[in-house]
Amino acid sequence: MDLSVTIAGVRFPACMMNAAGALCVTREELEALGRSRSGAIVTKSMTVEPRQGNPEPRYYGFPGGSINSMGLPNLGYRAYAALIPELKKFGKPVVASVAGLCEDDFITIAEAINASAPDLIEVNLSCPNIPGKPQIGYDLEASERLMKRVRKVITVPMGVKLPPYFDPAHHEQTAKVIERVGVDFLSLINSVGNGLVVDPERETVVIKPKGGFGGLGGPLIKPVALANVRAFWKQFKGRLPIIGTGGVVSGSDIFEHLLCGATAVQVGTVLVEEGLGVFDRLQSELAALLDKKGYSSPAACIGKLKEL
Ligand code: DHB
Repeated sequence: MDLSVTIAGVRFPACMMNAAGALCVTREELEALGRSRSGAIVTKSMTVEPRQGNPEPRYYGFPGGSINSMGLPNLGYRAYAALIPELKKFGKPVVASVAGLCEDDFITIAEAINASAPDLIEVNLSCPNIPGKPQIGYDLEASERLMKRVRKVITVPMGVKLPPYFDPAHHEQTAKVIERVGVDFLSLINSVGNGLVVDPERETVVIKPKGGFGGLGGPLIKPVALANVRAFWKQFKGRLPIIGTGGVVSGSDIFEHLLCGATAVQVGTVLVEEGLGVFDRLQSELAALLDKKGYSSPAACIGKLKEL
């Protein structure tokens, strides 16, 4: 079955890709994504200067999911700007994930990375792991100011990666901001910020930065991800494409995201745990499921969730 989809006019050969942060920091990792069956190559969120990130251990996987506090380890935007033209040779979209340590950084990076012509830019408003820096996505005034400024310098399709919201009022208010800015797609959700995992045996936290607090991912966040995909799909009446992220481990999880309104999904925790072969497995599982249910393509089930 053809699992390709189109987002903001860009064709993805399969409706799944790595989530920003998962196996996408170095040239080698990005090229490996290019050779894999990932439907796109998404870069690590980049900052102005290269960063080593937070001290280790900074990622911990457990049966329900994962917790991380990587602290934006990345090569710096100049390195990604040089790499992007090469990565486009793999024949799938290249998505540049843009972050920053202050508002001006986002503009500097967005302008330069836009000039290197990625297929899409994902503006990350939701990194939870920089000590002393709150997630921008939880400050709507700051988010609107920043998005309006990056919007002016970005000419390729621009999306925003949002943190999870837990109240319908926040979905509504955020949607109004996005509407005013004029965004081409949404990526939902970033990790559920500042969770805490405890090892009762050792009586310790499991990651070192920030006293053990970190972003949660994997199966345990799937209902939060689905809720955000659904809520924003409804806010925009299905007219703004959504990339769903959170808790995708199987073809059925992808199907659930599609039903809620996602056009494609990103995979983080399961990619880190299972490696690049996960894309082959997910594609067989999704194709078999859609076939069994009589859907001819991923696009055919987007937003088709029934209410009781
Ligand atoms: C990191 C984590 C995130 O969830 C994010 O959006 C950006 C960066 C990190 O710790 O590197």
